[in-house]
Amino acid sequence: MSENELAIVILAAGQGTRMRSRTPKVLHEIGGRSLVGHVITTAERLEATHIEVVVRHEREAVVSHLTAHFPSVAIVEQDEIPGTGRAVEAAVAALPGDYDGDVLVLSGDVPLLDEHTLADLIAAHRASGAAATVLSARLPDPTGYGRVIRDADGTVSRIVEQKDASADEAAVSEINSGVYVFRAASLRDTLPRIGTDNAQGEKYLTDVIGLLRAAGAPVAATIAPDARLTEGVNDRVQLSEVARVLNARIVRHWQREGVTVMDPATTWIDDTVTLAPDVTILPNTFLLRSTTVSTGAVIGPDTTLSDCEVGEDAVIKRADGNLAVIGAGATVGPWAYLRPNTQLGEGGKIGTFVETKNSQIGAGSKVPHLSYVGDTTIGTGVNLGAGAITANYDDIAKHRTEIGDEVHTGSHNVFVAPVTIGAGAKTGAGAVIRKDVPAGALALSVAPQRNVEGWVEKNRQGTRAAEVANDARHAQKAADGGQGQEEDR
Ligand code: UD1
Ligand code: CA
Repeated sequence: MSENELAIVILAAGQGTRMRSRTPKVLHEIGGRSLVGHVITTAERLEATHIEVVVRHEREAVVSHLTAHFPSVAIVEQDEIPGTGRAVEAAVAALPGDYDGDVLVLSGDVPLLDEHTLADLIAAHRASGAAATVLSARLPDPTGYGRVIRDADGTVSRIVEQKDASADEAAVSEINSGVYVFRAASLRDTLPRIGTDNAQGEKYLTDVIGLLRAAGAPVAATIAPDARLTEGVNDRVQLSEVARVLNARIVRHWQREGVTVMDPATTWIDDTVTLAPDVTILPNTFLLRSTTVSTGAVIGPDTTLSDCEVGEDAVIKRADGNLAVIGAGATVGPWAYLRPNTQLGEGGKIGTFVETKNSQIGAGSKVPHLSYVGDTTIGTGVNLGAGAITANYDDIAKHRTEIGDEVHTGSHNVFVAPVTIGAGAKTGAGAVIRKDVPAGALALSVAPQRNVEGWVEKNRQGTRAAEVANDARHAQKAADGGQGQEEDR
C-alpha cells in the first residue's frame, strides 16, 4: 500500500448531551443535511480509500441514517469505553492490518470545513513529514475547545481540554478544531497507551499529540485561514450560528452564479437546491431539499418551497409548496398552498387562498381565487370560478374530478367526486356538480330564484332597512312612471 493513501475517520459516537435532544447530535440538520452528512459529503470530495464513521450513542438512528443516505461509508462500532481516542482506536482497528497511509480524523459535529481547507491540511502534513498535524484556529472566544499548547520556540507540545486546563492554558486562544491528520502507525503506537485519568474520564484523542511529542516524533499544527469553518456544534446556540454561516456561504455561491438575492439574511437555501442564472429571490424565502428553479423565475417574498420544480419565468409570491411542479411562465399566489403532486402547467395560475393537492392543472388553466383542488385532472385553457371546491373525500375513499379542456365554471361550485366535466362545458354559479356534465353542456343545479316583493317593509316595519326600501321603491315607481313604461318584475 502506498504511503500517500488516505483513510478518513468521522467521529459520530458521542452523546451530544449539551443539545438536550431526543435526536442524536450528529443528525441535527443545517442547510438540508445532517451535521454528519455535511462532513461525509466533504470527505467524499477528497480522494480517500476508506471512509469510516464511528457510532455508538443512539446507534440505531445514526446507522439507519447512514445506510439510507451514505451507503458507501463503513460503519465502525465504538465499545463502552468513552472518548474520541477510543473512537479512533476502533476505527484504526477496522482498517486493513497493513494500512500504512495517513488517517484524517474529522468530527461529525464540525460541519463547515470545506475540502480545500482539508486538502491544504493534508498537503502540509505530508510536506512536513510530521507524525500528526492538527488543524487549529484562533478564536476570539475559545471557551469549550481544547487549547493547542506550544513551546517557547513555537513547536506544538500538546493539547489540553478546557476542563483540564490551568488558568494560563485556558488563556491560550489557539484552539483544536478536532480535525487532524496522523500517520496510521503513529495512532497504532500511541492509542493503546492513552488512559482515562482526566476531568471527563474519557480516552482523549488529543493526548496522542503529547505522547508523540514526548516520544520525539514531530507534531505540527496548521492554523485554519478561516476560523469560522472550524466551529463545532455542541448546543443549539452553536447550531444556529453554524447554520447561518453555512447559509451565507450558499447564498453567496448562488449570487456569484447569477442569482439575485435581495435579502441574504432572510433567504435560506439548502445545500441540495439548484438555481439557474437570473432567478430572483425576494425576502423571507426558504428553498429547501431538492428544489430546482429555472432561469427568470421570481420567488418570494414570504415563500417556502420544498422539493419543488419551478419552470422558467414562473412567479411565486407568498406561497408554501411541497413536492410540486410549477410550469414555465406560471403564477402562484399570493397566499397559495401547493401540496404534494401538484403539477401546474405552462402559463397556468394558482391564485389567492387556493390549496391544491395531487392534481394536474393543464397549460394556461387558472384556479384564481379561494379554492380547494384535490385529486383532480384539469385540461388546458380551463378557468375555475372563485370558490371552487373539489369534494374528493366521502369519508371512506378519495375520488378524482376530471375537468376537460376549455371548461369555464361559475363561482362557488362544488364538484362531488368522482365526477367528470366534458370539454368546453360550463357550470352556473353556486352549482353542486354530482353528475357528469357532457362536453359543451351548461350545468345548473341551483333552484330558480324567487323574489318576495315587499317582504322587508312588511316583516321589518320600523327598521332603517324598511325605511330605505320604501324610499327606493317609490323612487323607482316615479322614475318608471315618468318614462311611462312600468315593467312587471
Ligand atoms: C473535542 C476535542 C477538543 C476540540 C473539540 C473541537 C477531544 C478530547 N477534545 O472536544 O480538543 O477543541 O472537539 O470541536 O477530542 N465522539 C465519539 N466517541 C466518543 C466521544 C465523542 O465518536 O466517545 C465524537 C462525537 O460524536 C463528536 C466528536 O467525537 O462528533 C467530538 O466529541 P465532543 O464530545 O463534541 O468533543 P468536544 O468536547 O467538543
Ligand atoms: Ca464537539
